[in-house]
Amino acid sequence: MLGGIVLLCLCVCVASGHYGRSDGISLDPKVPEEILEDARLKVPALVRKYGYPLEEHRVTTADGYILTVHRIPHGRDAGNGTTDRPVVFIMHGLMSSSADWVLMGPNKGLAYILAEDGFDVWLGNARGTRYSRQHIKLNPDSGAEFWNFSWDEIGNIDLPAMIDYALDKSNKKRLHYIGHSQGTTSFWVMCSLRPDYNQKIISMNALAPVAYLTYNTVPLLKEISLFSTVFDKLSNLIGVGEILPITNSLVMRWAGEKLCSDTAVFQEICTDIIFLIGGWNSLEFNRTMFPVILAHTPAGASVRQFTHYGQVMHSGSFRRFNHLGFWNYKIYGTWDPPLYDLSQVKAPVFLRYSLSDPLAHVDDVERLAKELGNLKAKTSIPLSSFSHLDFMWGINAKKLVYDQVIADMRRMEESL
Ligand SMILES: *[C@@H]1O[C@H](CO)[C@@H](O)[C@H](O)[C@H]1NC(C)=O
Ligand SMILES: *[C@@H]1O[C@H](CO)[C@@H](O)[C@H](O)[C@H]1NC(C)=O
Ligand SMILES: *[C@@H]1O[C@H](CO)[C@@H](O)[C@H](O)[C@H]1NC(C)=O
Repeated sequence: MLGGIVLLCLCVCVASGHYGRSDGISLDPKVPEEILEDARLKVPALVRKYGYPLEEHRVTTADGYILTVHRIPHGRDAGNGTTDRPVVFIMHGLMSSSADWVLMGPNKGLAYILAEDGFDVWLGNARGTRYSRQHIKLNPDSGAEFWNFSWDEIGNIDLPAMIDYALDKSNKKRLHYIGHSQGTTSFWVMCSLRPDYNQKIISMNALAPVAYLTYNTVPLLKEISLFSTVFDKLSNLIGVGEILPITNSLVMRWAGEKLCSDTAVFQEICTDIIFLIGGWNSLEFNRTMFPVILAHTPAGASVRQFTHYGQVMHSGSFRRFNHLGFWNYKIYGTWDPPLYDLSQVKAPVFLRYSLSDPLAHVDDVERLAKELGNLKAKTSIPLSSFSHLDFMWGINAKKLVYDQVIADMRRMEESL
């Protein structure tokens, strides 16, 4: 979920302090061309570069957001015929995008692995991410109106729209869902607010699942959570609803290439900052890929997505966005925001979590597991140091996570 914060801090720290002092030191610019190219390319070109088919689809939501959904309809090497392919929809976490499922390359990225295994792969992009930063009327670059949403809207509006679209295009009635972090939060939101969507889900694999944040062990986030609602009001007041738009620009790519690449003297600092905040694990992280990762992530989000997580942390309840008192009454008809009813999540859920994930803490996962309406299994990753971001980029993610995900999806297929 909060990989974005991590990268954000990295960017700010690196850009403000270290570079200024280091102008004298020469930064070896010889990052391999292959890596630089993967950093430059957006998802469609990146996927095609490796010989995979990629379709871009636009989905317009009921409230006017134009979302891009990426589809890899079949594999490159194996099983690329016209046989009947089960549909799998993958939803990214906070500040991530569809890119995170392909940027590590074939045989490593989850999207490629699923395509090779015979799935029709759809990659969602939530409103506000770089691939879905568009609206029929509102301008993301002027005022806060475009950014007036949290993951409540992503779950309540975006997910149903993208899922219906994928089912319609592929002529299917049901699909498999895989979510990471906020991609799980928004799924709980969807299934509790719009329970009819439960029937469209064959299986839900929740990677680093997030609902409650009571035990998260990131001190910085705890501090921030106290002020989150004030921060939100403030940002609305001054008309900025996007989380540091600067991170969407070339700055991150620059940081990745110049400061965090294998040949840069600052790579150590880059990783240290990430460790400090948590959610990353040196053994599972391929540092060579830093420039590619920083070029694609963070991919954009609203201030309100963070605020909403801050509220969850602070209140200890998994509930809808708190607009405060009278506004809650106007919007929800109650003074406090309503709880999301997790027992309404009737789709079969497989929770996959890690013992050392500071953001999806074991005790919070336990609580979620108890409240879900149809828990199939709860599995901890058999490597205790595996962490939050490793679910996307971990060197051994295939062996430790994806292979098991596929096995469970296949089992659910058979029982249909
Ligand atoms: C399927 O894969 C084979 C072997 O890689 C290749 O020769 C063929 O062109 C592929 N077909 C399609 C439709 O992509
Ligand atoms: C933001 O959305 C809420 C509903 O969630 C609405 O009541 C409010 O007027 C919106 N504010 C702006 C500035 O668009
Ligand atoms: C790290 O990434 C590089 C570049 O893609 C690759 O050549 C290398 O094999 C990767 N290392 C591991 C341990 O996966």
